[in-house]
Amino acid sequence: MTTGDGDWQRDLVRELTDVPQSGGGASHSADPGAQSEPRSEVRPEVRSKASASPQTRDPRTPAPAASSPAPAPESLPTIDPRLAIALGRPQHGDSTARRAGAGLRRLTASAGREVAEQTRYAEELQQPVTTGRVVAVTSIRGGVGKSTVSALLGRTLNHYRQDPVLTLEADAALGTLPVRMGAESVRWSAGDLARILTPAMQLTDVTGYLVPVADGGWLLPAGQGRVGAPLDVATYRAVTLALRRYFAVTVVDCETLPGEVARTAMDTAHARVVVAPMTAEGVHGTRQVLDWLASLPHSALASTVVALSAATPDATLDTKAAAAHLREPGVTVVALPYDRHLAQGGPIHTAKLARDTRDAAVRLAAEVMRRAVRVR
Ligand SMILES: Nc1ncnc2c1ncn2[C@@H]1O[C@H](COP(=O)(O)OP(=O)(O)O)[C@@H](O)[C@H]1O
Ligand SMILES: [Mg+2]
Repeated sequence: MTTGDGDWQRDLVRELTDVPQSGGGASHSADPGAQSEPRSEVRPEVRSKASASPQTRDPRTPAPAASSPAPAPESLPTIDPRLAIALGRPQHGDSTARRAGAGLRRLTASAGREVAEQTRYAEELQQPVTTGRVVAVTSIRGGVGKSTVSALLGRTLNHYRQDPVLTLEADAALGTLPVRMGAESVRWSAGDLARILTPAMQLTDVTGYLVPVADGGWLLPAGQGRVGAPLDVATYRAVTLALRRYFAVTVVDCETLPGEVARTAMDTAHARVVVAPMTAEGVHGTRQVLDWLASLPHSALASTVVALSAATPDATLDTKAAAAHLREPGVTVVALPYDRHLAQGGPIHTAKLARDTRDAAVRLAAEVMRRAVRVR
């Protein structure tokens, strides 16, 4: 898996031959990934954002190129409208006083250093990619902020990049990604797309099956918010492989480790994020995940970033000591502070994030992108 960009097609073939033929249960004959191996010598370029318009196709009228034997799923709301009202108004992550103070601080001497840092991160975030990069986000247990981190990454990358960015949900456990990304309804799932995608499809055909995100970018949910068949490894591989042709970066909100799809996603991604809760046991468990990543054959650790997430304002763990413990095997740790707006749940509004949260999201995305571009 350490071939250069010129070996993109060979990588695809190898990844396809890696697909376990016995497991999964997905129909391999309809596997679009298997057919997506381009026969021509044309390098599948990552298309520019300009060619992707949310209005290009109504999802209810699928692409003519698609031949879906199954009936089209109906569009379902991500959240009961009564609950959406119960959520109340979105809070700002920073208090009014803090917001005023931050404005003043920015005029002081440290401003120059800050600008230099922002410029460096922006450059990293905007690095060109020749082939689609996949970033897998996982954790050792649920509820620690995986979907929140995935949504922040997807939004941040989309904000900085000119080419299309996809946020993909690969968590069958009634994940919250569609709500966090602001999707009001969902229709097509990753499993549906694995059956529908064909190599002949254009980006505009594919986006007809995706949910356009309000600030830009695209979302593909794992399901329709029902308890249903979990995503299997073969489907995961097929859908990520096929979608890599169209999207510069795909952020995958995985199930928790050691689930099979999560392990596959972590193993095959270009960069990895392990979300660790800011507790002693969370950091201890995450260290064990890092040790597992270190044992993978293709230096997975070198392309891993830990997001140390404070999901409560009462975290007492010494962040420096925790970060040092996680940094030992050689990974970068980015602390994601507690944020009132994130704690509230519901759609994430970037403008409502605390300044520190936005800075952390930019740094995390830049660290991820640097690794995703460098590896393979
Ligand atoms: N940085 C944060 N600050 C405050 N609350 C957070 C933060 N990250 C996550 N949360 C809270 O934790 C909850 C669970 O996060 P979520 O991303 O859904 O976890 P997971 O996907 O790992 O199950 C969120 O609904 C939110 O209330
Ligand atoms: Mg989740």
